[in-house]
Amino acid sequence: MNDTFLKACRGEQTDYTPIWMMRQAGRYLPEYQKVRSNVTFLELCKKPELCVEVTLQPIDLLGLDAAILFSDILILMEAMGAPLEFHDGKGPIFAETIKCQADLDKLIVPNPDETIGFVMETIRLLRNELKVPLIGFAGAPFTCATYLIEGGSSKVFWETKKMMFTNPTLFHNLMAKITDATILYLDAQARAGAQALQLFDSWAGILAPVDFETFALPYVQKIFSALQKYDIPLIYFANNGATLLDLSVTSGADVIGLDWRINIRDAIKKVGKKAVQGNIDPFALLLPKDELRARIGRLLNAAKDAHGHIFNLGHGIHQFTPPDQAKIAVDAVHELSSK
Ligand code: CP3
Repeated sequence: MNDTFLKACRGEQTDYTPIWMMRQAGRYLPEYQKVRSNVTFLELCKKPELCVEVTLQPIDLLGLDAAILFSDILILMEAMGAPLEFHDGKGPIFAETIKCQADLDKLIVPNPDETIGFVMETIRLLRNELKVPLIGFAGAPFTCATYLIEGGSSKVFWETKKMMFTNPTLFHNLMAKITDATILYLDAQARAGAQALQLFDSWAGILAPVDFETFALPYVQKIFSALQKYDIPLIYFANNGATLLDLSVTSGADVIGLDWRINIRDAIKKVGKKAVQGNIDPFALLLPKDELRARIGRLLNAAKDAHGHIFNLGHGIHQFTPPDQAKIAVDAVHELSSK
């Protein structure tokens, strides 16, 4: 068992810097496209054998140090009772958005083993196959709430902010319900065998620090505090979160994910005795080999005083990234960080 990733999460010495990539299973891999050509994305998410197959693809092809469960953050929202569709090229769509308390009352806090047992089944199957640790995940409540309120992806988040500022009670009630569901869900993932858990807060960066502190952070803290009993690393990734870093450090996570917009050396000073995960620009994978390796070497050097560094991209790998370039990055991290 390669436990380099888990050691780095705990701030222990490692022989080299471990690497995984957010969204490492997915469309940039022809092997994924092949599986996906026979099923819709949601069908794929609900078939454990196929989820296992696509989770393993990048591990075998690229030689990564951790696997992330193949699923989607919005699977839990669907289980809560929000009808979800994915349209190719358009992303997720929720036809019934949350506009008032009556809409919210229709959502349930599901028993994950009963409603989305396929996720836990995927985890159990993966643990039999994997020789690297398995990361489970969920969306952070704020990010999930934006999808339920906007009905899909958004650029300005008008409806979300309108609810926050004109009906904060409704907004907090929604956040509380998503939080309760997320705690049960991640608890079930941990019991099924997930060896680390990450909360993806893809849209936290649209918030002013004061609003992040009021409307988003308390719910992240509640989730992480409920999961402490498992003694597995907890990771918080707030995309576009450089201005929220002082607050994110109080989230209760053991590992702070960093996007590429922040200098990792500056971030490490703020994070103190916690591990950091990140943070090369996903588009830097397009650099010519020598330049990519040099850039990775500089990033490793800048992170050398971290209390644990897990190499990652600053956000998900882009769907048009050549897999060979991802492999160059993995090899470079391993070679250049070897002690
Ligand atoms: O990281 C992994 O390899 C595990 C799988 C994973 C997916 N989604 C698979 C996926 C994970 C961890 C996610 C998280 C997720 N999903 C987030 C947070 C991370 C982030 O990127 O900010 C968000 C916001 C979602 C919601 C979501 N799912 C969107 C907005 C989209 C469309 C995105 C796009 O690029 O079109 C998805 C679809 C999705 N989730 C795909 C995959 C592989 C593409 C589906 C396909 O067409 O095959």
